[in-house]
Amino acid sequence: MAVERTLSIIKPDAVAKNVIGQIYSRFENAGLKIVAAKMKQLSREDAEGFYAVHKERPFFKDLVDFMVSGPVIIQALEGENAVIAHRDLMGATDPKKAEKGTIRADFADSIDANAVHGSDSVENAAIEIAYFFGTEVYSR
Ligand code: PPS
Repeated sequence: MAVERTLSIIKPDAVAKNVIGQIYSRFENAGLKIVAAKMKQLSREDAEGFYAVHKERPFFKDLVDFMVSGPVIIQALEGENAVIAHRDLMGATDPKKAEKGTIRADFADSIDANAVHGSDSVENAAIEIAYFFGTEVYSR
């Protein structure tokens, strides 16, 4: 088992629903430790840079509009197989397809407003953690 770090974002819809604590409890109960965290109002530049890999996708503008619509909470999580463990907690991108008991099934309204983001690989986790935390936080 590898101890990893992953980047998590609690998106504007979940912050607005006041479920930050409930989502943090799920991380803690799954053995994921919060090793860095901040609340931030993303600028368009922040969101466009973060999602640059999706810039040719038809939903890119909607995704950026949504991510700047209110503050987000950004955290680095650490634990065994943290990338997969966190994605299991989140559930599928589309909440209609997310397994019962996952964060998206319980708190997300739509594929546009889907409550949380999580890195999809250890390599991307390192890039995403550096994007928001710079050298303040290291990835593993
Ligand atoms: S892929 O093909 O696996 O990379 O795409 P996916 O992970 O499903 O989605 C990438 C991010 O785009 C968001 N997304 C959308 N936003 C708005 N509208 C639509 N239709 C839409 N489809 C996907 C999705 O939530 C992903 O954001 P993150 O923050 O990575 O979860």
